[in-house]
Amino acid sequence: MPNDVTPQIPEQQVLAEQLFEQQFKLSAEVICHAPGRVNLIGDHTDYNDGFVLPAAINYGTTIAASVRVDNLVKVYAHDCEQQINEFSLNDISFDEEMMWSNYVKGTLQALIKRHPEVKGANLVVIGNVPQGAGLSSSASFEIAILKAFTELYQLDLDGVNAALLGQQAENDFVGCNCGIMDQLISAMGQKGHAMLLDCKDLSFEDAPIPDDLTLFIVNSNVRRGLVASAYNLRREQCEAVAKYFEVSALREVTIAQLNAAKEQLEPVLFKRARHVISENARAVATLKALKNNDMATISMAMKESHISLRDDFEVTTKEMDGLVDMIDSVLGTDGGVRMTGGGFGGCVVALVPTAMVEQVKAVVNSRYEKEFGLAPSIYLCIATQGAFR
Ligand code: GLA
Repeated sequence: MPNDVTPQIPEQQVLAEQLFEQQFKLSAEVICHAPGRVNLIGDHTDYNDGFVLPAAINYGTTIAASVRVDNLVKVYAHDCEQQINEFSLNDISFDEEMMWSNYVKGTLQALIKRHPEVKGANLVVIGNVPQGAGLSSSASFEIAILKAFTELYQLDLDGVNAALLGQQAENDFVGCNCGIMDQLISAMGQKGHAMLLDCKDLSFEDAPIPDDLTLFIVNSNVRRGLVASAYNLRREQCEAVAKYFEVSALREVTIAQLNAAKEQLEPVLFKRARHVISENARAVATLKALKNNDMATISMAMKESHISLRDDFEVTTKEMDGLVDMIDSVLGTDGGVRMTGGGFGGCVVALVPTAMVEQVKAVVNSRYEKEFGLAPSIYLCIATQGAFR
């Protein structure tokens, strides 16, 4: 996709409908869309029962679908080299070759445990969330599948339960021990708003994003490697500290308790926990600042978040750090910038006053490739509605 073109969801829907007719020689019964997301602040907190502040974005996955009378699922994946995958709901197994199909399989395996009445379907999938960039292409895929089956079979499934099924697919089938943030915001995001989600009890609060702010996302285009294993290791480290304190999750540990135990903890575990505990406080403070339109506080929280993810959690790359520094040099306290998502490559997110967008674009376009040898991709986003909202 060309730099900074805002994709039109209705166009994706028309294409899905047309492709469905070509592939299956019949009309689709439902067309569903689930968005990707950008996390404004609160990374690596969700699986610690903590706080996150994501927004659903206008990049996502669209599915055209029809029911089948048998138990077969036939999927045409337009953006995965136009591959076709076919399997039976009675015999779901991991596919080492067509990796994308595991998201369909894992999601449906989780769904039929809860809704055994579900039968097969014909599906056409189109997505434009950049893959492996930290914008939740996989969660948007899972939630789009769940929304399609919910409509096809009139299931009694709400957004929170759909998110839990999507997470189950990742944890139990795909092999990534992710938290709940990505699936929940894809299902329950609110147009024009970010969502403060409490990952302990799954309660959430929507906070309007001021009209004069643009969600400015830059993909560092660093290829991410071994992400699942590095991610799972971070989670194990957090759990080890929770175990040390004999609590269910790091959410229950205060910074004072952590500091008091510094000498007893391995230095790396201490740093991981310090990130999580401080990041929770920053996410909550950012929600308040967003409501008060207090950009200086947001700016500081995002800056500290990035530093903490870089130095304590160690999930940034030099390219992401470079992007953050160059954008920060333009924004100062008029906006905020940090890495977003799981890390190890992928995107940075900036909250940019719309009047400064051109200036920020100019600095990224003139410096990033020169300094890091990779062309950046810029996405100017708006906060959109989740699939189940
Ligand atoms: C990935 C995971 C989420 C969350 C983020 C980091 O996106 O899927 O559950 O842990 O990383 O905040």
